[in-house]
This record gives sequence, C-alpha cells and structure tokens, in this order.
Amino acid sequence: MRMRNKYKKPTSLNCYAGSRYRFSLVVCSFIGCLVMLHFYFLNQSQHSQHAVMRMNNEHPFYRDLVEVEDENIKIPPPRKRSPRAIKRKPKRPTTLIEEFLDESSQLRYLFFPSQRTAIDPTKDAGNESLYYHPGRIWLDTDGNPIQAHGGGILYDDRSRTYYWYGEYKDGPTYHAHKKAAARVDIIGVGCYSSKDLWTWKNEGIVLAAEETNETHDLHKLNVLERPKVIHNKNTNKYVMWMHVDDVNYTKASVGIAVSNSPTGPFNYIKSTRPHGCESRDMTIFKDDDDMAYLIYSSEDNSELHIGPLTQDYLDVTDAMRRILVGQHREAPALFKHEGTYYMVTSGCTGWAPNEALAHAAESVMGPWETMGNPCVGGNKIFRLATFFAQSTFVLPLHGFPGIFIFMADRWNPADLRDSRYVWLPLLVGGPVDRPLDYSFGFPLWPRVSVYWHKRWKLPYKWSGKK
Ligand SMILES: *[C@@H]1O[C@H](CO)[C@@H](O)[C@H](O)[C@H]1NC(C)=O
Ligand SMILES: *[C@@H]1O[C@H](CO)[C@@H](O)[C@H](O)[C@H]1NC(C)=O
Ligand SMILES: *[C@@H]1O[C@H](CO)[C@@H](O)[C@H](O)[C@H]1NC(C)=O
Repeated sequence: MRMRNKYKKPTSLNCYAGSRYRFSLVVCSFIGCLVMLHFYFLNQSQHSQHAVMRMNNEHPFYRDLVEVEDENIKIPPPRKRSPRAIKRKPKRPTTLIEEFLDESSQLRYLFFPSQRTAIDPTKDAGNESLYYHPGRIWLDTDGNPIQAHGGGILYDDRSRTYYWYGEYKDGPTYHAHKKAAARVDIIGVGCYSSKDLWTWKNEGIVLAAEETNETHDLHKLNVLERPKVIHNKNTNKYVMWMHVDDVNYTKASVGIAVSNSPTGPFNYIKSTRPHGCESRDMTIFKDDDDMAYLIYSSEDNSELHIGPLTQDYLDVTDAMRRILVGQHREAPALFKHEGTYYMVTSGCTGWAPNEALAHAAESVMGPWETMGNPCVGGNKIFRLATFFAQSTFVLPLHGFPGIFIFMADRWNPADLRDSRYVWLPLLVGGPVDRPLDYSFGFPLWPRVSVYWHKRWKLPYKWSGKK
C-alpha cells in the first residue's frame, strides 16, 4: 500500500509540470516499474516456496487434496418433442445450469443422487468409511437426512465436540404468493454433534419456530436463515445469530438467541437492524482475541457491512465499515490464516448457483480486496457455479494450518428439505493471486483454492477409530 503512494504521487504531479520534467518522469517511472516488478517476483517466489514446503509436508493426504479432479458431463440430446411444440418454442441448447434447475432433467441424479447412494455413517462402510461425497444424501446416526442448511460449525473445547447448526427444513416447499421464492415454513434451528466431522448425532431443534403468536419474529410463516453460534468465554454463554425476515424479505434483520449449553435450548432475545441498516445473508466471526464480528449483506444486497459485537456478543457496537461496495455479494464465510483474513462469498441469484469469489484483508474491518474464483477442478461450468452450491461456512482443520473445510449448500428449490451439502477441502497457499480490485498488486495474497472431489476424506488423525 505504501509502495503505491510512493510511485503514484510523483507521476501525477509531474504530469502537469511541463516538458522540463518529462525526461526525468520517464526515467523515474521506468525505475519505479523495475522496483515494483522486483518486489512482485520476490513476493511471488517467496509465496510459492512457502507453498511447496507446505505441500511436501509429512502428510501425504495433502497430495490427495490438491489433486485436480475433472468432470466430463455430456448434456443429453434433447427429448423428443412434437412438431407443434417445436414450432411454439424453438429449440435452443440447454446449459448445465438449466439442467440443474430443471426438475425433470435426465441429469438430475448427478446433482441430487438418489437415496440409494446415501451416506450412512452407522453402517460399516469398510474402505468407504469417513469419505465425504459432496451432493449425496447424508444420514445422521438415527438414519435420517441431516437437516442443517445454511449452517455453521462450533467447536466446543470443553466437550471436544463439533456442533453443526443449520436450518431444519424438513417440511413442504411452497410459494407464499405468485412472485415469492420457494420456501419452507420455519421449523427451527437443527443441531448435530460429532467428534469426527463425519458421524453426526441429532441433538434436536435447539431454537424452535413459534406456532401461534403471529407477531413473533420466529412465527412459522416468517423466515429464519443462516444461524451461526459462537461461545462467549466471559459470560460462558452460547450465542446464536441468524437472519430473520418476513415472507417477502422486507424485515431484513438479524435475530439473537442465547443458551447455557451448546445443545440448547436457545432463548430468543430480539431482532434488530444492525447499525440501522438492512441485514439479509449474514455470518458471525470470532477472532483469536475473542472479538466477534457481524458481517451482513445490506443496501439491497449491493454491499456487505462488518462491525464488532459487544463484549457479551448480544448486540453490535456503533462501529461499522462498508465493504465490497457495489459488488452484490451474499452468503459470506470468513476465516483467518497466518494473520490474514479471508472470505468467500456468492453472487445474488436466489436459489440458483453462481460464481464464488474469494476476498482478503489485512484487518478484519477492511479494506477488503476481491481475488478470483477459488474453485479448482470439475469443469468450467462447475467452477462458475461453485460446484452447484453456495458458501455457508469455512471450518479450520485443527492441526493442519492452511487447510479448511469449505461448507456449501446445494439448494433444491423444488424440494428445499432435500437440499444437499457440498463439503470440499479449501487450501490457502500456492501461487499468489492477483486482486481483481484496482491495485498495483500490493499486497499480493496467497491463493484460496477449493478443490472439487467426487469423494475425499480427512487425514487418518480424524478417524473416530484412532
Ligand atoms: C473398496 O473396497 C472394494 C471392495 O473390497 C473395492 O472394490 C474398491 O475398489 C475399494 N475402494 C477403494 C477406494 O479402495
Ligand atoms: C407474541 O410475541 C410478541 C413479540 O415477541 C410479544 O411481545 C407478545 O407478548 C407475544 N404474545 C403472547 C400472547 O405470547
Ligand atoms: C407479501 O407480498 C405480497 C404480494 O406483494 C402481499 O400480498 C403480502 O401481503 C405480503 N406479505 C407480507 C407479510 O408483507
């Protein structure tokens, strides 16, 4: 950042200083360019050396994670149509995205594999044990599909247990009115516990919908999305933040609930418009110094806002920064690696998948710079559609710095309860990424990569059987 000013200022000044300075301007710019190039390559080679050291690490599973896995999906020939139908609506080539959104597509099984392929961690799966299969139905220890959509994970130090919270959507999908998006009435926030991040026990609905009181935020005809839970050391409470809205998404608020136990029940406190602004997709992030932050889509989803929570995590403070202004991003998922903050977001296209972007910042309050699409592998359409899923959370893998689990939702708007989970390895490192934002290339960030895999698993250390 400092470099930018140093070389930019003299240039713009000289531009207006007359021909006398023109020669020295050219020389100065040339030297400036050389210096910048030097730093650029120095920076780049440092980063890639770093990355190589990482990848040669003693854990062979690094190799499996970063293996680029392609997908070659052929779009089937169009179904036979009557000459009349063809005349009415001329045939045009379909895209994979259209096939994905088409409930009667012949390719549906690729995106929403049948019950027959469900992952059942309670059955002895032999060598398939502990493998994630993005997109397949994932059963809990009772044999029911996990209901934790738009979720996030809390690691509880004391019980050494992972808790996965998300929207419990096991109800019928319908449209509230002609123009409304597909929805399921609020049932509540589901909670699942696990030691190995693969076998999940249903801990029940830890925050339930309100059945009768129509003025209550959580009345079943309203909206509850993206619940996230963090623990407050000082108050020893588990604090949940979520997006609460009315059926038409005009309330645009956050809701806050609190519990003494990770498995609830959570007591709903209130909803609020943080900093007096609209708040739709959101997440909370707890930093190493126990400061927590709320990040939310605002101003008609055109920008994100970020601000610290109060000490007890039950409210926001007055401080707020507008970030990624005009970029129209939602579904934020924040994480931190070696002192740098990262975020993955999606575009705003309702239930339809779109392209993810990675962002980075030296300070959590910004400025945030946008890097490229983090997706690696699959095929081009897979990468442009975030593997047909939308970010919801990024979970650090304890003991493996630089490796994270990217958690995303493959929404099924025809039957939202049957939305699937896409969990993939996310790695920070490797060749540097160039910010897409206007920038002289300083600072350059290590690349954030989400690798596509049909199946993959965590290192042996994570096995419950160790
Ligand atoms: C798992 O075991 C089955 C049967 O023993 C075998 O056919 C399959 O190839 C194995 N898969 C892997 C990934 O090792
Ligand atoms: C209904 O909910 C509102 C808002 O939470 C609350 O103020 C009111 O007391 C509730 N009414 C009943 C009858 O519980
Ligand atoms: C939502 O919008 C529809 C159509 O504009 C309207 O009929 C309905 O009353 C609205 N409902 C709420 C709760 O705002």
